[in-house]
Amino acid sequence: MKIIQTIEELQEIRKSISSSVGFVPTMGALHDGHISLIKQARSENDIVIVSIFVNPTQFLKGEDLDKYPKKIEADSKICELCKVNYLFLPQISTMYGEDEVLVKAPNIKSYTLEGERRPGHFDGVLQVVLKLFGLTKPNRAYFGKKDAQQLALIKQMVENLFLGIDIIECEIKRESDGLALSSRNVYLTAEQRSDALAISKSLHAAAAIIGKKEFDCHVIKEHMQTIMSQLDVEYIAFVNRQFEEIQTIELKNSIILVAVKVGNTRLIDNIWI
Ligand code: PAF
Repeated sequence: MKIIQTIEELQEIRKSISSSVGFVPTMGALHDGHISLIKQARSENDIVIVSIFVNPTQFLKGEDLDKYPKKIEADSKICELCKVNYLFLPQISTMYGEDEVLVKAPNIKSYTLEGERRPGHFDGVLQVVLKLFGLTKPNRAYFGKKDAQQLALIKQMVENLFLGIDIIECEIKRESDGLALSSRNVYLTAEQRSDALAISKSLHAAAAIIGKKEFDCHVIKEHMQTIMSQLDVEYIAFVNRQFEEIQTIELKNSIILVAVKVGNTRLIDNIWI
């Protein structure tokens, strides 16, 4: 595996590749969720590029940019073991100049749910992903379903800007007790972690109710609220795969999303129905 730190080197290497490229953008602190994306990219492409970059433009003032977990050595080892060909590790000054062209996420999809709580967050996500796509020019790029709204916006960007990249949606990875994997789980105390299990329990309960043919989102939401009654729930939302709000579950076209604050840590999770 080759580690790349400069734009010039990455561009030079990319020019020399004529076979298929799979790209996995990350912010590091790699866990099994990332590993599953990398493994899928490995199995579907000749060349795999992973980037690790904690992108400042997607963090709001007061968020965890400065304390975001950094584990470069362990992450490099993981990438090497997963047979990644190139690991791109840029600095902020490598990725951003003084007066930048900005990317604006579409209003409706990006100012609801996560975007409503984190205004501007998705502008930053799309900006960095577009830059990374421009550098790596992947055939396929891999994103987890856990960040469902991010995934929907990236798919829309690829479509709107005619980028011609296949966006591969990858399943959410969970601990054996149901907690969705997240780099932010390290912030949780043992007690908070145990409280947080109510999130995945509520999503599984929702799926079970839907399995019994209860499709009314209000009824499902009430069940979920009861299960998460001890938690500081920011939202329980029901959308279709286009991220439009729904009142009734439509099978194979619905997503139930949850955002919760556990102590100072915001956790998100969802289930695709
Ligand atoms: O999902 C993430 O880790 C980030 O939002 C991404 C896509 C790497 C952009 O910084």
